[in-house]
Amino acid sequence: MSTVNTYAVDDKVVVVTGAGSGIGRAIARAFLANGATVVVTGRRREPLEETVAGADDGRAVVLPGDVARREDVDAMVAATLERFGRIDVVVSNAGVHDGGGDITELTDENWALLRGVNIDGFLHVAQATLPELVRSGGNLVAVSSVSGIAGDWGQAAYNASKHAMTGFVRSLALDYGGRGVRVNAVLPAFTLTEMTSGMASDEKALAPFVNRIALGRPGEPDDIAPAVVFLASDDARYVTGALLAVDGGTSASTGQPHTE
Ligand SMILES: NC(=O)c1ccc[n+]([C@@H]2O[C@H](COP(=O)([O-])OP(=O)(O)OC[C@H]3O[C@@H](n4cnc5c(N)ncnc54)[C@H](O)[C@@H]3O)[C@@H](O)[C@H]2O)c1
Repeated sequence: MSTVNTYAVDDKVVVVTGAGSGIGRAIARAFLANGATVVVTGRRREPLEETVAGADDGRAVVLPGDVARREDVDAMVAATLERFGRIDVVVSNAGVHDGGGDITELTDENWALLRGVNIDGFLHVAQATLPELVRSGGNLVAVSSVSGIAGDWGQAAYNASKHAMTGFVRSLALDYGGRGVRVNAVLPAFTLTEMTSGMASDEKALAPFVNRIALGRPGEPDDIAPAVVFLASDDARYVTGALLAVDGGTSASTGQPHTE
């Protein structure tokens, strides 16, 4: 684990969605390493248990739920409040990457899944937790993507879902700033997780991605997590509405090819 006791989060109750794998797991573990109390949520209990394995019982709680289902999110929030009486930080990380290809071939099922998790899921989580964040003076961090600030070839539906998230973040920062709540996003680019495992194992597919990353390698979940902990911490008290690229320099490019 790369980040230990760096940021001021040890007094915080943190909810992390999609915490059973990849970036969400790394985020949950980074908060635990920094002394926070962490509620991990996701669809299946087993991977969530693995995320918090070894953590002090009182500081890690597993509450399974599907963010696409409003009733699951409301139940998770109610159970968190019953247990801890407050929520200080919400990390909306759960996401799916589906429905690639020409938009005319996007099926209703693919779109329903993308919309349900990436857009409705964020909305459900924000609606259920913002009143609690107003009470605690807390903050929300969304794990969006560089695909939420620019386009990718063949990813129109995913791009649209991630742009929705960055749009929510900017507007909610305005709406809730006066009520003492900060709302920010991190924007990863190509990161080695289950979501990208198909491409990562195919050297030919991976090379053009790596060629566009200034730092010359794909991201790891542990590269993303410290930025989330920073944004959630009191050290970021004057940061809101920020879309923080944690992408090895991917979004620094104009898009023109790397010629060397
Ligand atoms: N991996 C990348 O290259 C990359 C790049 C930019 C942004 N992201 C974003 O990072 C976030 C995490 O993705 P990851 O790369 O760790 O992939 P991942 O597939 O390992 O993690 C996604 C997590 O979300 C959970 N999830 C999916 N649907 C859910 C639902 N309905 N309810 C609750 N949980 C659900 C999954 O079970 C999984 O644990 C996503 O929002 C993704 O869009 C990933």
